[in-house]
Formats: sequence, structure tokens, C-alpha cells
Amino acid sequence: MNDTIIEVQGLEHRYGNFTAVDGISFSVKKGEIFSFLGPNGAGKSTAINVLTTLLRLQKGSARIAGFDLATSPGKIRESIGIVFQEVTLDRDMTCWEILEFHGRLYGMPRDERRARIDELLSLVQLETKKDALTKHLSGGMKRRLEIARGLMTRPKVLFLDEPTIGLDPQTRMRMWEYIKQVNREGTTIFLTTHYMDEADLLSDRISIIDHGKIIITGRSWELKNMLGEDLIYLETSDNDAAKDILRDMAGISEIRTKSRGLILVVNEDGTRLLPSIMEHLRTRGVTVTTVNLKKPSMDDVFVHFTGKELRDEGPEKPSVAASRSRRGRK
Ligand SMILES: Nc1ncnc2c1ncn2[C@@H]1O[C@H](COP(=O)(O)OP(=O)(O)OP(=O)(O)O)[C@@H](O)[C@H]1O
Ligand SMILES: [Mg+2]
Repeated sequence: MNDTIIEVQGLEHRYGNFTAVDGISFSVKKGEIFSFLGPNGAGKSTAINVLTTLLRLQKGSARIAGFDLATSPGKIRESIGIVFQEVTLDRDMTCWEILEFHGRLYGMPRDERRARIDELLSLVQLETKKDALTKHLSGGMKRRLEIARGLMTRPKVLFLDEPTIGLDPQTRMRMWEYIKQVNREGTTIFLTTHYMDEADLLSDRISIIDHGKIIITGRSWELKNMLGEDLIYLETSDNDAAKDILRDMAGISEIRTKSRGLILVVNEDGTRLLPSIMEHLRTRGVTVTTVNLKKPSMDDVFVHFTGKELRDEGPEKPSVAASRSRRGRK
């Protein structure tokens, strides 16, 4: 069990009578990027705040970097870096001052501090903003500075609560690169997110969390494979005929009409089945004009395991993915 750096057992946290984290257990291996993926209010921040000692441990147990959360919170604090969900930078300090202050707070010797600041400003590409006040930074720059601050003390684990919330798509992608870079240099990363693509592209393993519970944990492809179904969208010269022809074909479990085409739900690898579908239709005089193969996405995975779409707000509207999940599957 030497390569486990976070081990959590039966963690629970209540606010009054409300249970925000409802008995979660999971472990993170040294060197991993591990994500909690879940909607607003799932309990992600509460869990991360307990693990980083900001909230008192109420129930359950956790070991982080070899220390017990109940008995050695101070040791844990020394071993980790944290980036909070909300921006927490003093507006009237410069980038350099933020990092310098943090290093001093943690008792880093002056020379080591100065060297580390240069290293980190370069890592997050803020060298030219060294003396800029944080209030003059863009949202993405602020986030990068917070990551640099979180890394100042060379933590064994970096906790990132919604690292790219509110950033534009391009900046988010660059942020993922920084996070991967930090991880390549040996830091284990624990992050929370409600972005499907972020969990999918960034993490080695993902726990889907909802209503304070972990619903499933796995690698992105493992979770997708559990769905075991691909979708094929076809437009043809005669959709009704095509529907009749394909109705009894092996491997196709459902056919639906959608706008100008058909959606086939296939219960085997769609890339293998597609050529025979095309051939089948062609020999019976139906021409295929458009084809689109869709592998299950992280959204589909989420809908499958939670029974709902992940959205910030607003009513849930049915979609292909949602109706797939409602059908239930073997
Ligand atoms: N200080 C608090 N007092 C009472 N209830 C709280 C408090 N903080 C959070 N909650 C509730 O606990 C639940 C979990 O909140 P939490 O912030 O952990 O969720 P989250 O997954 O981080 O959500 P988000 O994606 O919006 O950041 C929510 O229902 C929230 O309203
Ligand atoms: Mg949160």
C-alpha cells in the first residue's frame, strides 16, 4: 500500500441536519490526477475542505501523505497545496509578493523562497506580471498565480477545487497543460470539477459524486465501456425503408427517427458494425448520404450513472443520452 497517497474511509460531513458528504471512501495513488466530477451542491468542496483541514473532521477517516487527518492535521497542511474554488488573492499585492508572503508563512528560507518564486512564475508563465497587482490580472492569470502559490512549498499533493471555473475554453485548455506539467514533475493532483471534458481529458481516474455519495470510480475509458453502446446516425435516400431493413440486424438494439435521419443504438463496437450496415442497405437499394458514429461521451456516462444531465441550472430536458439511460440496459 506504499503507493497510496490519499486513503479515505467513510467520510461524512453534515451542516446541521443536512448531510453534504455522505460516507465516501476512495483512494488516490501517488502520481495520479484524480477527479471528483459532480454537479453543483454534490459535496465536492465540502469533501475537499475536510481533507485539507479547513473543515473539522466529523466522521470517517483519512490518511494523506502518510498522516492521519484526525491526529496530524498540521502535518497534512505542511504536505499539501490548495487552490480554492473562490479566488483568494489579496487585490493590492503583486504576484511576487503573494508568493513571497506564502513562502514566509510556511517558514521557507529566503534563498529557497526566491528561487522557487522564479521557478513557479516561469512554470505558469507569469514572469512578465511579476510586479503587477493581482487586481490587474485576468481571470486565467489569477488562477495560474493561485496554482503557483499552491505549489510554493513543493507539496506532495495539490488540491484544486474547480481549477478552471469561469475561464474561457482556450484558457481552460492551457490550464490543463499547466496541471499536467505539475503532475509530470511528480505532484499528485486531486481536483473537483463539474466539467465533463475536464474530468475526461485531465484525470487518470474519476469518481462521479452526487448528493454526497460516490456513485462510481474508474478510468474515463472504463466508465465509457461500462455503457457498452455506441450510437450511429444515418441519413439515407429512404429512411423508412432503411428502418425496415435494419430492424432485425444483429448488433442493433434500437432504431429511432431523428430529424432527417435515423439513430441506431448498437450493442457492440460501432466501428466494426458500420461497414456491414452500409453493405446491407446498399444491396437493398438504399443509399446512405450521411454517417456519424458516436462513442459514449463523459456526458453519457454521467447520465447513465446518475440518471440526469449535469447542468448548472434550469429544467432537465430529455436528450438522446437521457433516453438511452432511462431505457435501462444490461
Ligand atoms: N456552510 C454551509 N452551511 C450549510 N450548508 C452548506 C454549507 N456549505 C455547503 N452547504 C451545502 O452542502 C451541499 C454541498 O455543497 P458543496 O459546496 O460541498 O458542493 P459542491 O459540490 O462543491 O458544489 P459546487 O459545484 O457548486 O461548488 C450543498 O447543498 C450546499 O448548499
Ligand atoms: Mg464547490
